[in-house]
Amino acid sequence: MKQSFYDKYPFYYEGEEKKNLVLNEFPLGRFIKKYIKEDSILVDVGCGCGIKAKYILDTIKVKDYTGLDFSENSLKITKKHNPNIKTIHASATKIPLPSNYSNIVISDGVIHHTDSPYTSFKEITRIAKKGAKIYISTYNREHLFYWAYRFSSVLRFLRKIHLDILNKIIFFPLFYLFWMQIGTLRLYKKFKFVPLKQAWLVFNDNLMTPIARYYYNDEILLWCDVNKLKVLEQTTYVYGQMLSYVLEKC
Ligand SMILES: C[S@@+](CC[C@H](N)C(=O)[O-])C[C@H]1O[C@@H](n2cnc3c(N)ncnc32)[C@H](O)[C@@H]1O
Repeated sequence: MKQSFYDKYPFYYEGEEKKNLVLNEFPLGRFIKKYIKEDSILVDVGCGCGIKAKYILDTIKVKDYTGLDFSENSLKITKKHNPNIKTIHASATKIPLPSNYSNIVISDGVIHHTDSPYTSFKEITRIAKKGAKIYISTYNREHLFYWAYRFSSVLRFLRKIHLDILNKIIFFPLFYLFWMQIGTLRLYKKFKFVPLKQAWLVFNDNLMTPIARYYYNDEILLWCDVNKLKVLEQTTYVYGQMLSYVLEKC
């Protein structure tokens, strides 16, 4: 398997305020409270560094938790924080699990980074049992961040020609100030110093990642329709940057 961008820049952005926000205000928090039970067999597709796994397992102990990711380094961090979960090093586009395997599947902010988001979407639904609940979130094409990513092709080019230093001294400080600090002030409703190291990883995930695709709500609803998924909830969060879906496999 080719080395993943996320081996070098694992998505590790954590903190008590973020945990409270996710559990109490984000759609994933509602999903956890409503659908995850002690007897759940849960697969977390693109689990990253296991941050959401920790939030979930701090809330409820599930029967079986499997985290899958393309990045080996991220999986090592996942294991460090969640020693009891199973991990699988694989791509979301080809999940090495049988069909109808689990009754909960989550994939938070992942499919848009894969080679083929639609194949990943189909794989996520394939491993879900009939009646299983699925939580998926992806980038919203209607949010201004789409343009930020497009314009950041200049930043990605600078890295390619070994001028990443310019990203570090010019663009990252701007991102840090305007997106991370002012953004978190709006979200948390209080000032919180975001550690530079974590902000650097978010900068890489948001702007430097080699693959990021953006979707209109109607496109995802069409995928749901074609794959016989009932939409139980559809919403946006982080000021419309993300689209999220709670689905039931029929
Ligand atoms: C923004 S992070 C989200 C991580 C985690 N879901 C969270 O919410 O903290 C995106 C993750 O998708 C993973 N990823 C990217 N392409 C993938 C693929 N083809 N298969 C599996 N995971 C992939 C990356 O390695 C990374 O950990």
